[in-house]
Amino acid sequence: PFEAAIFDLDGVIVDTAKFHYKAWKRLAGELGFAFSESENEQLKGVSRMESLDLLLRCGGLTDVSPERREALASRKNEWYKELLATLTPADVLPGVGSFLGLLRSRGIKTGIASASQNAPLIIDKVNIGPLFDAVVDGNSIVRAKPDPEVFLQAARLLGVAPAACFVFEDAAAGVEGALRAGMRVVGIGNGKLLARSHLAITSFEQLEPIFLMSHIGAAGH
Ligand code: BG6
Ligand code: MG
Repeated sequence: PFEAAIFDLDGVIVDTAKFHYKAWKRLAGELGFAFSESENEQLKGVSRMESLDLLLRCGGLTDVSPERREALASRKNEWYKELLATLTPADVLPGVGSFLGLLRSRGIKTGIASASQNAPLIIDKVNIGPLFDAVVDGNSIVRAKPDPEVFLQAARLLGVAPAACFVFEDAAAGVEGALRAGMRVVGIGNGKLLARSHLAITSFEQLEPIFLMSHIGAAGH
């Protein structure tokens, strides 16, 4: 049975994935190449510096010094933070608040496992901190998704065994990390990219939470 639900943040709880894309696209534009939404998919869930490397590769720019990479990443982050400044509690994705409320009312622990170093800022802006028992983010992990570290740390903080956790993720790297952590995974969004998840949904709204819990509870993994 389930004792904890662990949520990715960007693209699962808040629609910040579109802000990441906007900022990366702007950087690509300045560097003189186009950057499509489908190219952006591979950046989801991936750390800031690895995302930059993927972006530069899309533009055929492989010979960039570490100093220049640092400068480009912080430039992107400044634009991204300008977009984050507009966030309000209304930007929490549909259905998330009531689903969290339901889980908590049943005594299921809730946590966040995010790759982002901006997670504390985002959580504060949309005021969801009180809904979570533990938060692990890009400031406290060494190895980025698809490494399982962020999920395992969240489970440890919640005091729950990995096998009793289920994870909500919108990125292939995150689904992979959660599977490596030995957890069950619900993919949110593009079903194709989340093919390895145990269950794929398009939004929390579509989800009857009780059905979800019994459904994955019966999966028997
Ligand atoms: C993940 C996002 O949650 O965090 C990635 O899906 C992002 O797109 C990563 O690159 C790191 O975020 P930040 O805010 O530390 O640059
Ligand atoms: Mg995400």
